[in-house]
Amino acid sequence: MTLIDGKATSQKIKDEIKNEVIKLKQKGITPTLAVILVGDDPASQTYVASKQKACLACQMGSVMHKLSANTTEQELISLIDVLNADDSIDGILVQLPLPKHINTNEILRKIDPKKDVDGFCAQNMGALVSGLNGFVPCTPLGIMELLKQYNINPQGLNALVIGRSNIVGKPMAALLLNAGATVTIAHSKTKNLADLSKNADLIIAAIGKANFIKPEMVKEGAIIIDVGINRLENGKLVGDCDFENLKDKCDFITPVPGGVGPMTIAMLLSNTLKSAKERKLNER
Ligand code: GUN
Repeated sequence: MTLIDGKATSQKIKDEIKNEVIKLKQKGITPTLAVILVGDDPASQTYVASKQKACLACQMGSVMHKLSANTTEQELISLIDVLNADDSIDGILVQLPLPKHINTNEILRKIDPKKDVDGFCAQNMGALVSGLNGFVPCTPLGIMELLKQYNINPQGLNALVIGRSNIVGKPMAALLLNAGATVTIAHSKTKNLADLSKNADLIIAAIGKANFIKPEMVKEGAIIIDVGINRLENGKLVGDCDFENLKDKCDFITPVPGGVGPMTIAMLLSNTLKSAKERKLNER
């Protein structure tokens, strides 16, 4: 079994990004990410703090807008309008989930697609499905990068994506399809998941249930990518896949933590850099 080390891979990518940022700064361009956090969800606070720290470590600019939980949709849209119009801002990220009184789709569609470094707006989603240039959501993009770094070519593989969210499952399936995999998408309403998973060469698990994928559900030599982050009652972080019992059965597996998670942030920086280059160097 080969352990897919997301921490080391993301560090390598961040080092490359930092070198590019330093060169851009010599041309007077500082790639800058604006993060908007609405409310005080503790997990979201941790995530945005990590994103900001990573920007600074790569010498990028980072602007944080913390808004109270009772911010109105209109106030949030007004802020997005200001950031859209501000040429010093290359990427705009609205941390999800938003409070229930705010319509997430309405908000996401206000972000300028050229600054939508999360790749969540309909234009970027459409570009992904059509195989056109655009921003690809960071977690699935990070998974594709991990596969590349470990010389895993999805072409011809039976890939099973478990989860159908706009953030992970749907864009992941599109990327794997574009790469020539035979893609199945399973979700909470899927019947007989084990029949599908036992046939899969590559499993991407974005389920949200601790240790859900067991050895009897996977075939010998499978490649397992675990997107889950679940906290057990004892405080331990575990993925959606039963790592300890799977590690001797599969050929490749990502750990949790230290697998997919660090790649998400590296791809956010990569997308912000891409935005700065495309908008300010006219590189496409
Ligand atoms: N919430 C959970 N994951 C993400 C993400 O990748 N981007 C944003 N904006 N919010 C999230």
